[in-house]
Amino acid sequence: MDEEKAVDESMVNTVFSVLPEDTNIYGNLFGGKLVEWIDRTAGIVAVRHSRKNVVTANIDNLSFLEPIKLGDIVILRAWINYVGTTSMEIQVDVYNERSSDGSKVLACRAYLTYVAIDENGKPTPVPKLKIKNDDERKRFEQARERKEQRLKMKEMVKS
Ligand SMILES: CC(C)(COP(=O)(O)OP(=O)(O)OC[C@H]1O[C@@H](n2cnc3c(N)ncnc32)[C@H](O)[C@@H]1OP(=O)(O)O)[C@@H](O)C(=O)NCCC(=O)NCCS
Repeated sequence: MDEEKAVDESMVNTVFSVLPEDTNIYGNLFGGKLVEWIDRTAGIVAVRHSRKNVVTANIDNLSFLEPIKLGDIVILRAWINYVGTTSMEIQVDVYNERSSDGSKVLACRAYLTYVAIDENGKPTPVPKLKIKNDDERKRFEQARERKEQRLKMKEMVKS
């Protein structure tokens, strides 16, 4: 595919407030709920970039850096780091905005790989990434290295 798209054409910011049904009995956000928000947000980036159906092929190990509590405001910033032929790596940075003073802390960072699929569920090409600056180039190269590790891990799981 010859088409190219820039990183800022598919960026997504989502915001959630943490409600009682999102938390455990101690008032902490369920990890699984945050993963759902991350996957949904990153999936929109992948669809915007490809304009195709996508499936989640991989979610890297997640570290929850800071607790997120009932009533907190959670901001997810998601953008595309890397495009292969049919796959895309999306990064999601999760910030906890304390409702009391508006301060923001990085609570979690996630890398997700999506694959665009055709009507038969087979991988199909997506637009290339138009790299505009050194930061984007660095992120692209780092994502390419992560992709190699993931594919090695996939082979280990399958063997
Ligand atoms: C993801 C899926 C489409 C890949 O199919 P496949 O036949 O293994 O595809 P291929 O080996 O041809 O790889 C296609 C692309 O996916 C990438 N890929 C495949 N598995 C991957 C993995 N585990 N992690 C990262 N990238 C992966 C390949 O690197 C390749 O990328 P490229 O085209 O950009 O180079 C297939 O495994 C699938 O449908 N999985 C289930 C997805 C799903 O249901 N997700 C929701 C889970 S709840």
